[in-house]
Amino acid sequence: MCGIVGYIGEKNSVPVLIEGLKRLEYRGYDSAGIGIINTTECKVIKTKGKVAELEKLVQSENIKSNLGIGHTRWATHGEPSMKNAHPHMNEDKTMFLIHNGIIENYVSLKKGLLEEGYKFVSETDTEVLAHLIDHYLKIKNNLFQAVRYALNEVEGTYGIAVIYKNEPDKIVVAKKGSPLVIGIGKNENFIASDVNALIAHTSQVVYMEDGEIAEIFKDHFQAKTIADENIIKEIHEVDLSIDELSKGGYPHYMLKEIMEQPDSLFNSMRGRLVLKEGISKLGGLQGFEERIANSDRIIISACGTSWHAALVGEYMLEQYTGIPVEVEYASEFRYRHPIITPNDTVIFISQSGETADTLAALKEAKKKGALCLGICNVVGSSIARESEAGVYIHAGPEIGVASTKAFTSQLLVLSLITLLIARRKSLNQPEGQEIIEELQKLTHKVELILKQNELIEKIAAQYVECRNFLYLGRGYHFPVALEGALKLKEISYIHAEGYPAAEMKHGPIALIDDDMPVVFIATKDSVYEKVVNNIEEVKARKGRILAIVNEDDNEIEKLVDHVIKVPKTINMLQPILSVIPLQLLAYHIAVKKGLNVDQPRNLAKSVTVE
Ligand code: M6R
Repeated sequence: MCGIVGYIGEKNSVPVLIEGLKRLEYRGYDSAGIGIINTTECKVIKTKGKVAELEKLVQSENIKSNLGIGHTRWATHGEPSMKNAHPHMNEDKTMFLIHNGIIENYVSLKKGLLEEGYKFVSETDTEVLAHLIDHYLKIKNNLFQAVRYALNEVEGTYGIAVIYKNEPDKIVVAKKGSPLVIGIGKNENFIASDVNALIAHTSQVVYMEDGEIAEIFKDHFQAKTIADENIIKEIHEVDLSIDELSKGGYPHYMLKEIMEQPDSLFNSMRGRLVLKEGISKLGGLQGFEERIANSDRIIISACGTSWHAALVGEYMLEQYTGIPVEVEYASEFRYRHPIITPNDTVIFISQSGETADTLAALKEAKKKGALCLGICNVVGSSIARESEAGVYIHAGPEIGVASTKAFTSQLLVLSLITLLIARRKSLNQPEGQEIIEELQKLTHKVELILKQNELIEKIAAQYVECRNFLYLGRGYHFPVALEGALKLKEISYIHAEGYPAAEMKHGPIALIDDDMPVVFIATKDSVYEKVVNNIEEVKARKGRILAIVNEDDNEIEKLVDHVIKVPKTINMLQPILSVIPLQLLAYHIAVKKGLNVDQPRNLAKSVTVE
């Protein structure tokens, strides 16, 4: 969603803001703006479109300042336009505000402010907050107190930063439901919605928590609760390098991240396998193993790609642990009065660790006393911090909006959790060892798939003009079919649906003709023969078929138009391999259509609004 960055110190803030915004652009990107205050002027520059447009405008103005804030916007209230872009300001243009989140009671707040005589130039909820702060600024004559009083009236979510001409020595920030991080420098401090924007300047960060507000000066900061009580915040060291945030010679982050999967998978399992004993060791779950193993039920909740990982997790955990597993869309879970007891374990999966629906579902499950675990990629993210225990996937930063390496690492971590729990149930040592041996062979097998990139690109070229796709798979590969379809639709804008292969005859078969490509995931598992039957059914109706098959399969290629071969592994791990050709297929189709694969239209990397 929206990205926030801010600087106070001795340098010119403008290049810091622009560079930070570029690093945040993947979060949201329909407009961008900066606001600066110096001894002679208060200035806001904003534009519709990319940060590059903003950069040109800023360069032409040649402004300098030691205090500034910047924002990239992903529209919620009001279309993407210059007037709706942030910063928003008070009427005399002396106080600037940037905001990530949604002010839910903005209509009633706006009514009161209109009655007071305030005029609005935008359609945003944020401008309402700017005027509300101004209202209290006139009463309190103090920025910190004005922000605090205004926020006491706000319902909804926010990560905000505010600067004011009459108090040019500070940035006031506050958080509720949207991420906000303070970066600690020497005679300079930073704020951002994401550590990615800070990492070029400092590795020392302070994570703001919900209900906290802080004044950031150039050489110190003071955090308080929204009720004005002082709090002491811990400074964390972030282990992230600037190289990890670059494209590393690839044309797109998405391709880089697909190609990184041998490494990301290795990092997800590094130090976590004990072959001799046939067990996995997960430090983040230490002390919780018995409680998980004795749960009446495991619920896994997530959104999007992470929800697809949850579905694979359901198959894994039920097969190996015998514990009943349910998978829930976080957005549904949070609102449908779910029956949760303290005997349940609820696992929340989120790459970003900031997805609003998943975070809210976590809070709901916590309230009901369940053991809440997080599987996150971003270290220190809200879901990671709110969970009682959990496992980081250690996939490294994922910048491309389409999730790829995070998905395979989520599956890998789910297999480690499965092994951990299953060994406390009926899985014996040699069986555990067999799983570990397969895990250890995985990265080499991924490399073999990635070597087929050129072949997959050639196959993709033959499908670029298609308007619809079906993806079909069974068992462990039903969620992979869903994920393959999601990858294609989100970056290529081609309509694609995933189904369990056997469901085809209950409806989707009516769509099949020589115009409808069908992607089958047909590796050799217990339902292989049945999937071959489904392939025959599509063939009989002249559908075009692309099949993902195992290396030793020479039968399916006689039936279908194209095959992509993947090495064989145990069923539980096979999705980690079979999804990779689908990631590459989606990538190449989108690139051939001339689309921006890293920043597809209407999407954001981190969905911090409901
Ligand atoms: O950060 P999260 O894993 O919680 O994000 C969940 C979804 O928003 C995300 O997976 C989304 O579906 C991706 N664009 C998929 O590629």
